[in-house]
Amino acid sequence: KKEKTLAMIKPDAVDKMGLILDMINQKGLLVTKAKMVLLSRAEAAQFYIEHQSKPFFNGLLDYVTAGPVVAMELMGSNAIQAWRDLIGPTNPSDARSQNAQSLRAKYGTDNTRNAAHGSDSKESAMREAEFFFPSTGPARANTAQ
Ligand code: CMP
Repeated sequence: KKEKTLAMIKPDAVDKMGLILDMINQKGLLVTKAKMVLLSRAEAAQFYIEHQSKPFFNGLLDYVTAGPVVAMELMGSNAIQAWRDLIGPTNPSDARSQNAQSLRAKYGTDNTRNAAHGSDSKESAMREAEFFFPSTGPARANTAQ
């Protein structure tokens, strides 16, 4: 069934955006919303609120606020899992041994600097899409269906 997910290209992989869009297109996913944005530390903390008590939280905030990120809403059949398959495991060294073609295998550095994010459930996809593309207010994004 058709569903939506939230994809985020992290700062050190933004220069690979063209190659990443090619991977997305080849997977049959559609980019229905996109924006490039420099997150404040408070915004990044809000986005990653579920990780606030983790030991890597501060390093994660340093990383994702180091430059602009590209947030995209992707739509397609099983989009959540399809995008997670494309990016590969959290740790790029696992990604390199499991699927050398995955985004984290190709562009990730370590457990924190892993090039991309993907929602892990329908609930987080909805929350994360609303974070980047609020559905209310005068400057709301166009809604492509
Ligand atoms: P992401 O999919 O964006 O979700 C949470 C992020 O925290 C993750 O990618 C990594 O960037 C980072 N992260 C997850 N686990 C670890 C870890 N064990 N050590 C350091 N950073 C991590």
